[in-house]
Amino acid sequence: MLVLGIETSCDDTAAAVVRDGRAVLSSVASNQDAFHAKYGGIVPEIAGRRHVALLSAVIEDACERAQAPLERLDGIAVTRGPGLIGSLVVGVAAAKALAFALHKPLYGINHLHGHVFAAFLDRDESPPYPFLTLLVSGGHSQIVAVESPTEMRILGRTHDDAAGEAYDKTARLLGLPYPGGPELDRLAQRGDPHKYAFPRHRAAGDSLDLSFSGLKTSVRYFLESHAGRSAQSEDVAASFQAAIVDVLMARVRSAFERNGYRAAVLSGGVAANSALQSAFRHWGERAGVRVFVPPPKYCTDNAAMIAAAAYYQRDAAAGDPMTLSADPNLPFQTTSSGSP
Ligand code: KG4
Ligand code: ZN
Repeated sequence: MLVLGIETSCDDTAAAVVRDGRAVLSSVASNQDAFHAKYGGIVPEIAGRRHVALLSAVIEDACERAQAPLERLDGIAVTRGPGLIGSLVVGVAAAKALAFALHKPLYGINHLHGHVFAAFLDRDESPPYPFLTLLVSGGHSQIVAVESPTEMRILGRTHDDAAGEAYDKTARLLGLPYPGGPELDRLAQRGDPHKYAFPRHRAAGDSLDLSFSGLKTSVRYFLESHAGRSAQSEDVAASFQAAIVDVLMARVRSAFERNGYRAAVLSGGVAANSALQSAFRHWGERAGVRVFVPPPKYCTDNAAMIAAAAYYQRDAAAGDPMTLSADPNLPFQTTSSGSP
């Protein structure tokens, strides 16, 4: 089954062709960072306009690289939500038009489900069900129990900032250019993670919830009180990163110990973080847990994960080209469907 995936939920214009939910024949993403950098964050109006300008060429490029002309596709998959409405509608309109004109099945996909299926891409083995997923991105941070391709349950989530947001805001405090997460990651590699003891959020009772706003504020106070003094920014970055990774790994361990999961998956943009990846892998080795960490290009937003999700969720996600709608607040638990 050859699926064209389209992803325009935020600021990446992406298209990909994936065979049977696994083999990535092409994955093209046009990054808009240069257009948002001077504002220090994503400007929704600019994101929507860039998608309009780029999407046709990105789709054409993905099909060409995969040597898959549109007529050969078995379906079109698109991110319905959650995301920026002005961005989502561009991808959804394009997917509906293609499906309608080509008489191909259309699949409406939840962006966050897509991140889960990134772990299935380009590898011989897939994570066995049930598995646990730590999903950490710029907009979301949650621990998810994945029972089957369409049964996913949130076990814990952030009360405030997402992990990626905490990275981006802290990077900004450190004067790093946008987008801050990867920059902070690079800076932290030269620093001492034990230099400063930033606070680790503790969840009440047996809750698996997360919070990062206290950590971010603590870094801000620290930097204000050390202004002009000798605190090395690489040590601050490394110590901040150590605090985030500690909290995330504590939740993963405690979720895993409670149930008989058969594997653990790391996904979302922050899964590209070098310290988090190595802590996750290290824990897997020590605890005898099979861990799945997608390569960085499939951790951050991409369309291959959307095409993969469509393959595994094809019955539940099938939509009607006349009625499928974008939903900026699409809930995680609801399986994507074609009805508005
Ligand atoms: O999943 P994603 O591409 O978009 C959303 O769905 O939000 O995640 C983007 C987030 C941004 O906050 C970005 O700074 C963060 O992932 N990120 C990283 C790294 N690469 C991307 N954070 C820390 N370290 C990285 N290497
Ligand atoms: Zn994402």
